[in-house]
Amino acid sequence: MSSTRTRLAVATAAALALATPFAIRDADAAAVPAATSYTPAEVLAGVQANMTTANKVNSKPHINTMTRAQNVNVYQVATGVYAYTSSMAIDTDGSDPDPDPDHQGETTFQDSNGKALAAHHVPFYVLGDDCWDRKSPCPHFFYKEHNVKGRQFALMFYNGKCIGSIFGDTQTANDQTTSDNDSRELGEASVKAASLLGIPSSGTTGGVDNGVTVVIFSGSSWVVNGSNSNLNANAQGMVQNALDTLGASMGGTPPTTPPTTPPTGSTFEAETGTLSAGGTFDSNHTGFTGTGFANTANAAGAYVDIPVTVAAAGTKTLTFRYSDGTSAARPATISVNGTSRGTLNFPTTANWDTWSTASISAPLTAGANTIRVAGTTAGGAANIDSVTIS
Ligand code: GCU
Ligand code: CA
Repeated sequence: MSSTRTRLAVATAAALALATPFAIRDADAAAVPAATSYTPAEVLAGVQANMTTANKVNSKPHINTMTRAQNVNVYQVATGVYAYTSSMAIDTDGSDPDPDPDHQGETTFQDSNGKALAAHHVPFYVLGDDCWDRKSPCPHFFYKEHNVKGRQFALMFYNGKCIGSIFGDTQTANDQTTSDNDSRELGEASVKAASLLGIPSSGTTGGVDNGVTVVIFSGSSWVVNGSNSNLNANAQGMVQNALDTLGASMGGTPPTTPPTTPPTGSTFEAETGTLSAGGTFDSNHTGFTGTGFANTANAAGAYVDIPVTVAAAGTKTLTFRYSDGTSAARPATISVNGTSRGTLNFPTTANWDTWSTASISAPLTAGANTIRVAGTTAGGAANIDSVTIS
């Protein structure tokens, strides 16, 4: 895909047409300074404005898990995006390295290694396990009817805070009569979700009765991968992109600058460089800085040359921001001004929208230098976003 400056071209954003247009930014763009990104407050206001009867998905009300009131509804606030506001009861299920006095067993969904989700480490939310009425379409919001799968990303808002969370566990199915849970309930999340949102997180005395808004992003590109040790970081890494994608779909002015904070130090964007044959500068995966990233051809030796300038000569640390959404590392030889300085491994990332860093040291000359990242395997180089010199 060719480079384009507008992040609206991102496929996921294109799928997020607004159910009911609602301008969350002043329509008079000239009166508004260029936005760097959508804030949680702006996006929550847009979500709440779309939680209308016309956008209601369920025909029978859900049950607030804490208060038991049958007054919770789910709204489609943009195409494929579903929101509800309810309580937070604290789910302490799942395997945890930490001692967990309230441990109740396994979570319905697992991390990418097949381990039950660690409720003290992974922010996850809970939905009904089945359709309580045993009807199709379900009179309630039943996740299987809405392209929602295990580890599906959601934004969670509470009291001025906003976090990323994943679909981790389900409420007891209606054929299980051993507890007062039932699959119409909405309003439970893990210990970690509570602590990130500033909600008391004890499994027995914690939680809040209301005011937690969960905004679920459906579709396979919003499924979060990772292990119990990095699922939290991976989910938080998607928050700003989710805010910007949903914010833009709500009729606001798309952000004109990157959604993520560029690394500190002197950062040079890969898209200012040149590519070997077959490479392109793309913007079809979210989370890059600048206007895009380098996608080299899938071939051994395929490279991107990045021009960098430093004030003084010396051995510097070169930190590459990259993404590798495949299942194998993309090692690459790093050369400076034509001299190889070693091979960096570029291990896999959760997906092509998740960015990591890899560093190597190398001598640079004062003034202009050219840094080449040349893939050594048949896949070519990882997608390269930038290099920071420090
Ligand atoms: C996909 C992905 C590209 C990536 C490529 C690759 O096509 O969208 O961004 O560069 O895989 O395997 O190198
Ligand atoms: Ca590529």
